[in-house]
Amino acid sequence: MDAEAQKKAAGEAAAALVESGMVVGLGTGSTAAWFVKALAARGLDVTGVPTSQATADLAASLGLRLAELGEVRELDLTVDGADEIGPGLSLIKGGGAALLREKLVWEASRRCVVIAEAAKRVPILGRFPLPIEVVAFGHETTALRICDALAECDIGVAPRLRVRDGAPVRTDNGNLIYDAPCGRIEEPSALAAALKSVTGVVDHGLFLDLADQALVGVAEGVVTLEP
Ligand code: 5RP
Repeated sequence: MDAEAQKKAAGEAAAALVESGMVVGLGTGSTAAWFVKALAARGLDVTGVPTSQATADLAASLGLRLAELGEVRELDLTVDGADEIGPGLSLIKGGGAALLREKLVWEASRRCVVIAEAAKRVPILGRFPLPIEVVAFGHETTALRICDALAECDIGVAPRLRVRDGAPVRTDNGNLIYDAPCGRIEEPSALAAALKSVTGVVDHGLFLDLADQALVGVAEGVVTLEP
């Protein structure tokens, strides 16, 4: 299977985990979109909590019933993609700029399943630039303090403002994204704490101790990974 077929297979395998009556977190990105399509095709009586406007639009177009996180408070299961899957199912997410809503939904979920193609597995996190969501006000100074936080963790790089079509990317929350090309993140927990301590940082794309299971598409099918 090529990468797209692996994403599709992982999304379909995750949809098979859903049962009628569940409240289900709907991730963001191309792999999560395969999950949303496969879930809608099952015709179950479920309520979806989307992690982005893009996912809300897709799910609504497929006839899925949707609710806001604040309405449901707790979810049975969330299924979402990732940019990297490292040791112990540590993750980098946020390539699609939805990391904050994703993390809020993941943290409210009893079970979180990450879905991806085989190429997303890495022996150490950091090859994919780490997304960091910051408030727009004074973001240039926040970026300087992010640099200091990275340096505290022996990561000597500068974060780059994410720009698309000549304009800064705005998240669904109206914030900006900086991407930090860390290379190797030796101590993800220490980096996560350092970044969260920076005023102006809303959240970052390190998802640690959150994934309960990974369904990874490989050439021959889908493999299941536990932390
Ligand atoms: C969005 C995300 C996505 O899950 C991540 O970027 C993976 O996307 P894709 O499935 O398209 O490779 O974190 O914020």
